[in-house]
Amino acid sequence: MIQAPPESVSIDPPTFDPYDYAFHEDPYPTYRRLREEAPLYYNPDLNFWALSRHADVVAGFRDNARLSSANGVSLDPAAYGRNAHKVMSFLAMDDPRHMRMRQLVSKGFTPRRVAELQERTLELTLGHLEPALAGGELDWITDFAARLPMDVISELMGVPEADRAEIRRLADLVVHRDEGVLDVPVSAMEASLHLVGYYADMIAERRKSPTADLTSALLDAEIDGDRLDDDEIIGFMFLMVVAGNETTTKLLGNALYWGAKNKSEVSQVLSDPERAPEWVEETLRYDTSSQLVARTAAADIDLHGATIRSGDKVLLLIGSANRDSEVFDDADEFRLGRDTAGKLASFGAGVHFCLGAHLARLEADIALEQFARRVADYEIDFDRTERVHSTNVRGFAALPMKVTERH
Ligand code: HEM
Repeated sequence: MIQAPPESVSIDPPTFDPYDYAFHEDPYPTYRRLREEAPLYYNPDLNFWALSRHADVVAGFRDNARLSSANGVSLDPAAYGRNAHKVMSFLAMDDPRHMRMRQLVSKGFTPRRVAELQERTLELTLGHLEPALAGGELDWITDFAARLPMDVISELMGVPEADRAEIRRLADLVVHRDEGVLDVPVSAMEASLHLVGYYADMIAERRKSPTADLTSALLDAEIDGDRLDDDEIIGFMFLMVVAGNETTTKLLGNALYWGAKNKSEVSQVLSDPERAPEWVEETLRYDTSSQLVARTAAADIDLHGATIRSGDKVLLLIGSANRDSEVFDDADEFRLGRDTAGKLASFGAGVHFCLGAHLARLEADIALEQFARRVADYEIDFDRTERVHSTNVRGFAALPMKVTERH
């Protein structure tokens, strides 16, 4: 006689649909099942494979020979429309094309240039934070988190202050997606054209009269006589808008959200603001804003008893890797002060490792430290939060909250 399985054992294989709104509410139980029961998962309806274990995700990032970025790194083929390859610049290239461009860009976008931004980032932070906190009620996203990252990118590039609000508006339209609609909205296309025009004019101006900004440094960058052309510089500027703006906004939002859910942890930062980097690091691990990247198999790959065929889409589940108990103790607990050095999957790994990781951390560390210096306590109105629904970006469009200012 065949015995019925005990009720606590699930018999259905796990399913993973990155478009499912219910999944977005809490993806982590699904990730756990994938890691435990289907470490190489195949979704027949959406025709992709997914890797969920930390070791496999990191190995996937490093296996550029067999997992190509050249068809884009987003699950949605329509993301950013037919111009995806231009918008994504060297993020969507393989070596040696990728390496050539990354090396040229790195001549201008240096760690030193980012470190030098510290003081201006503090000024920009306070410029948005102080009015947002005045009055005790705010929407953390629209009043603060959605403003800072693009302004820091504009500062870096040399966009004059008078133009920054408009640039922010256009940049937000570029990444805006209508819920459930895969095609790029017309407003996003129009905003892209405007931004291209704006950046092209700025490049032409800097060519005539160079300044100390990143735009001039990119025009100046040269390796053995090779230089970036105007389209390539515009492509990189767009990449910063697409890869560095929304992700950092959502990081700032997720930090406050999980802070409010884990007050005993975050009260340690509110009473000792210099510990803000620990809050940032744990948010990056616990609920990172960039949940997955896609690759296209460039060869047949045998793994976990199955074969990924050349040409197949493969997802690297960053959000799952960061919760793998093989790597992180009590991985489902939000806990400050972990040693995550060399373990976080949040910024990728290998040749495509996030070029803006320093900048994202600099901004978030400063923003949360300044928040903690001014705020004794805060409460999020959990009934009125709005989540963004996306296959890869994780975070909030609205986080209404009340703050008690420090006296
Ligand atoms: C690449 C995440 C902020 C610029 C990446 C990758 C990830 C990532 C996962 C690797 C993609 C892949 O392997 O296909 C994040 C997160 C951020 C953030 C979670 C914020 C919390 C930024 C910022 C900038 C930036 C602020 C610049 C202003 C880039 C660039 C690449 C990249 C240029 C492409 C590198 C390459 O292909 O060689 N980012 N990023 N990112 N990121 Fe970030």
